[in-house]
Amino acid sequence: MVSSVLAFLGVLAASTSAAAPPPPPNNAAAACRSLKSSFPQQVVSSADAAYPAWNGRWADTAELAPSCIFRPKTAKDVSAAVKVLNKEAGPAGDACPFSIKCGGHTPWAGANNVNNGVAIDLSGYMNTTTVSADKTIVSLGGGEVWRSAYAKTDGMGIAFPGGRCPGTGVGGVSLGGGYSWFQGSVGFVADNVINFEVVLASGEIVNANKTNHQDLFMALKGGNNNFGVVTRVDLATFQHSQQIHGGLIIVPVEASDAVLENLQRFTDDDAAGGVHTNAGLTVEYFLNATSGVGQILLWVIDTDAAGEHEAIRPFLEMQPQIVNRVATSSIAQYPSSVPAVTRVMMADLTFVNDLETLKGVHKITMQIFEESKGIPGLVWDFQFEPLSRHVIDQSVARGGNSLGINGTADDLLIMFIMPLWSDPAYDDQVYAAAQKWHSSVQAYTASMGKGHRFEFANYAAKFQNVMASYGPENLQFLRTVSRKYDPKQIFQRSVRGGYKLGV
Ligand SMILES: Cc1cc2nc3c(=O)[nH]c(=O)nc-3n(C[C@H](O)[C@H](O)[C@H](O)COP(=O)(O)OP(=O)(O)OC[C@H]3O[C@@H](n4cnc5c(N)ncnc54)[C@H](O)[C@@H]3O)c2cc1C
Ligand SMILES: *[C@@H]1O[C@H](CO)[C@@H](O)[C@H](O)[C@H]1NC(C)=O
Ligand SMILES: *[C@@H]1O[C@H](CO)[C@@H](O)[C@H](O)[C@H]1NC(C)=O
Ligand SMILES: *[C@@H]1O[C@H](CO)[C@@H](O)[C@H](O)[C@H]1NC(C)=O
Ligand SMILES: *[C@@H]1O[C@H](CO)[C@@H](O)[C@H](O)[C@H]1NC(C)=O
Repeated sequence: MVSSVLAFLGVLAASTSAAAPPPPPNNAAAACRSLKSSFPQQVVSSADAAYPAWNGRWADTAELAPSCIFRPKTAKDVSAAVKVLNKEAGPAGDACPFSIKCGGHTPWAGANNVNNGVAIDLSGYMNTTTVSADKTIVSLGGGEVWRSAYAKTDGMGIAFPGGRCPGTGVGGVSLGGGYSWFQGSVGFVADNVINFEVVLASGEIVNANKTNHQDLFMALKGGNNNFGVVTRVDLATFQHSQQIHGGLIIVPVEASDAVLENLQRFTDDDAAGGVHTNAGLTVEYFLNATSGVGQILLWVIDTDAAGEHEAIRPFLEMQPQIVNRVATSSIAQYPSSVPAVTRVMMADLTFVNDLETLKGVHKITMQIFEESKGIPGLVWDFQFEPLSRHVIDQSVARGGNSLGINGTADDLLIMFIMPLWSDPAYDDQVYAAAQKWHSSVQAYTASMGKGHRFEFANYAAKFQNVMASYGPENLQFLRTVSRKYDPKQIFQRSVRGGYKLGV
């Protein structure tokens, strides 16, 4: 098998990156002046002292220099801004370029920021969490981050699915589908949304839900920033003790074979004790090229805190353990925050949960790490996220989403690489390695008959065609919804970042 795996490493030469053409002239300066006069306290430009702080991102790789940054307080503010951006049309009749940011955790430049345009930052004021009187709905501002939502609902006896890294945003996580610790019992975060409040391209504020703009509602459940600026996300809650049991176990990389076997078994609904709704797992390889030390981080969780769930027991029992930080804690205290980083990127793909394929994919990933070790300070991080059929069934039970995986007969694994490095001079080399990884693994899993087209927006690289990965039928649906709600295609042409519909 080794040779057949390695054969795929040569399939794609590193991409050549051409210098980007200069951006066309636009009316960003005029849009900024207009916003500043309407919202004097909510707009900063590069001369202002607050600009660097407002312009900060989780990763340095995402930082750009917008003409100004606008922090709305309400949906009406967003609506007013979208009208200004429409009015300040550029030469081609497009709206002034703008970007949308919530938690700012997407690591690539331009996903949530813009050069020579207006950056809308929802996180400044629209970071609200309110719970309905009967506690069945939590309403999250379009700029809220999960840490804050968990803290504000602590002690209320409810839970709802959200980002596992508390610094990620409600906007990005839910619009990309959203993988949470409650995945096994309630599916994707997006599946639990009961209403999105959205500012459309025209500036109109609408609610999208099961009974109102149903097509837009479905499109937003996975459709990223293609349809509007989401100003509020209403999520269904469930009663919960708010106690969870889990945390981090670190084992040496020498345990890799056993880890992969346990991962495959965990993800297999047909294995003995296979369907488990209250257990969660992420397997993260963390390989330091400088020190040569490799570790495997096993993030395990038992969301009902009833003790140690049998599905995660094989991981709890692995020996030797370098670190064991498994404990019972509240949702708000769960220890998984990831501090800000310098240079980082992510790229992802999906394949069928088959052990031979998994081992082959692992081997390709290790081979590309070997080839990339010359990049100074490189940490080669890659992670596996189980996506079992019982999770997908939860999506269908809740009315479906736009991810295009509802018909999948197999248990799946989402995998992403997340290399970290420090010198921008090596950006191109890292991206080339990531592209090679992506195409090599895709080709390999396809050759095994175990490939899957789905690419999860939340861990994707800029070079990925995420919306097309939802399948032709879904892409067609998303394009139709886009034309209906955004006839001038503002979100395709003038909004920077995100994964476009390719129209
Ligand atoms: C340390 C770390 C941990 C992570 N953990 C998880 C996890 O547990 N589960 C998971 O699913 N993902 C996870 N991710 C991936 C994460 O979901 C994505 O990076 C996501 O895009 C982050 O959302 P954000 O709001 O923080 O990012 P942003 O970069 O602010 O937004 C992401 C995208 O969504 C758009 N967007 C954001 N808000 C809105 C809005 N209100 N209206 C319209 N468009 C909007 C932006 O324009 C951008 O294109 C993690 C990422 C990191 C770095
Ligand atoms: C919202 O975020 C701002 C800026 O980080 C912070 O000062 C403020 O306390 C937050 N408000 C709420 C309600 O969380
Ligand atoms: C759906 O939208 C309509 C129209 O705005 C609103 O009246 C209704 O309350 C919304 N439903 C939900 C579940 O939010
Ligand atoms: C990698 O190892 C080097 C050498 O031991 C160390 O200086 C560096 O901090 C490590 N990097 C990370 C991210 O742990
Ligand atoms: C799955 O999604 C497709 C559209 O992509 C839809 O036609 C079909 O009804 C969905 N099936 C289920 C079981 O939800």
